[in-house]
Amino acid sequence: MSAMDDYLATLRELEETGSAAIRTAADPDELERVRVEYLGRKARLTQLLRGIGELPHEQRRPAGAEANRVKRGLLELLEARAADLAAGVAAAAVEIDATLPGRERWRGARHPCTLVTDEICEIFKELGFLRARGPEAETTWYNFMALNTPLDHPAADEQDTFYLDRDIVLRTHTSPVQARVMEQWPPPVRVVVPGVVFRRDPFDASHAPAFEQLEGLAVDEGISFVDFKASIEYFVHRFFGADVVTRFRPSFFPFTEPSAEVDVSCTICHGTGCSACKGTGWIEIMGAGMVHPAVFDNVGYDSERYTGFAFGMGVGRIAMQRYRIPDIRLLYESDIRFLAQFARA
Ligand code: PHE
Repeated sequence: MSAMDDYLATLRELEETGSAAIRTAADPDELERVRVEYLGRKARLTQLLRGIGELPHEQRRPAGAEANRVKRGLLELLEARAADLAAGVAAAAVEIDATLPGRERWRGARHPCTLVTDEICEIFKELGFLRARGPEAETTWYNFMALNTPLDHPAADEQDTFYLDRDIVLRTHTSPVQARVMEQWPPPVRVVVPGVVFRRDPFDASHAPAFEQLEGLAVDEGISFVDFKASIEYFVHRFFGADVVTRFRPSFFPFTEPSAEVDVSCTICHGTGCSACKGTGWIEIMGAGMVHPAVFDNVGYDSERYTGFAFGMGVGRIAMQRYRIPDIRLLYESDIRFLAQFARA
């Protein structure tokens, strides 16, 4: 083997092992060690280049060309690997880049009517009220007659009431649960009764044929109209705010005497008049009154001994006021973009 063959074989070996070492260098430090080993001042390739002068004259030029080719190749590889490693470092940094927007977590939400129902029940719980329930398919006895409402009363008319059968209706209010509770339990009682009720109403911005109500009933010896007003006012201040004014307007319900409609000063315009309160400054929140003695007689309570008050509010209307919802249909159309707004962190 000639000196030239030797020279070229060594170059090829350096090219192979050097390339492999560069390609597999795991980090910049290792790459630097590889560079010093193959291309440093004391590296064999460097020495081979220096030793070209010792080759026969006519072989110097091709040997030098080959040695330089190998050197350039290794330098190029080295640069490419350095860039790769740098990019790898950069990629790792991107993974913890705090400036990237986070992935939003799925968050559930409660329906606004549920939020309002729970909040109202909590306030009355502090006043000693239990939560009760009753059936949605109700007999005409509980829905009307027990509540001192004769079946020829306009409310019992088929135009207002969904009849499932001759004696069974979809309850038109939660008041029948008053009678059911009193029938089962001796006084004193304090209950709140959330639930869905049904009326043959058109489905428009302020009416729905099925909507939630929240009934309240308190019965004991010596409960007076003052207790009634104080309890309602306490609730209004707790729920709507201390600065909200309550107004009791005389009204009529067959199952309360005296009866009242309760208004609160509009929480949106504070009583000056706006579109939410139709310019009146007041929002009607419930029907209420002192329980009619005839109702006590119907459920077996001693109407000479016991008195009490009852109220029924429209939960949807209150939710609309609380969350400034302009159309009651939003509560019942299950548009998830609307409902998602009630998610709490
Ligand atoms: N049940 C009545 C209604 O639906 C509201 C009410 C409840 C009135 C209790 C008085 C007492 O309109």
